[in-house]
Amino acid sequence: MMRLVLASDHGGFDLKSELVEGLSEGGYHVTDAGAHSTEATDYADFAHAVATGIIRGEFDRGILVCGTGVGMAIAANRHRGVRAVNCADVFTARYSRSHNDANILCLGGRVVGVGLAWEIVKTWLSTDFSGDKRHLRRLSKIETV
Ligand code: RB5
Repeated sequence: MMRLVLASDHGGFDLKSELVEGLSEGGYHVTDAGAHSTEATDYADFAHAVATGIIRGEFDRGILVCGTGVGMAIAANRHRGVRAVNCADVFTARYSRSHNDANILCLGGRVVGVGLAWEIVKTWLSTDFSGDKRHLRRLSKIETV
């Protein structure tokens, strides 16, 4: 069973709560790493916690939600080995997996509606990395700095 970790700040709390509930019922092993209310919090705290869990191999994939998805993606991508994508469309969700092997999905709770968010999440979770040599080569070049 795929181990997922989700987290948000206050800006992403409502969407994250919806996703936690739906994914838990949908056959995933789901960890909710907070926030646990709409009280104002700092997105980087949650991004770092989720990124660390991914790097340590405690989870297979992460989903981070803030107001725009931007702060979460910037913070998560500071961790070597994290490939976080901020996504507001299904096409990007699909190719961030098949070409980029993204391991964290960032969403903007104030950007995408619940319906689109679900399409993005379902596509992102169900798309495998292609494993093509050219994509492996490109990914390895990310790690050279
Ligand atoms: C919080 O107001 C907001 O800045 C945050 O949720 C996020 O959008 C940052 O990128």
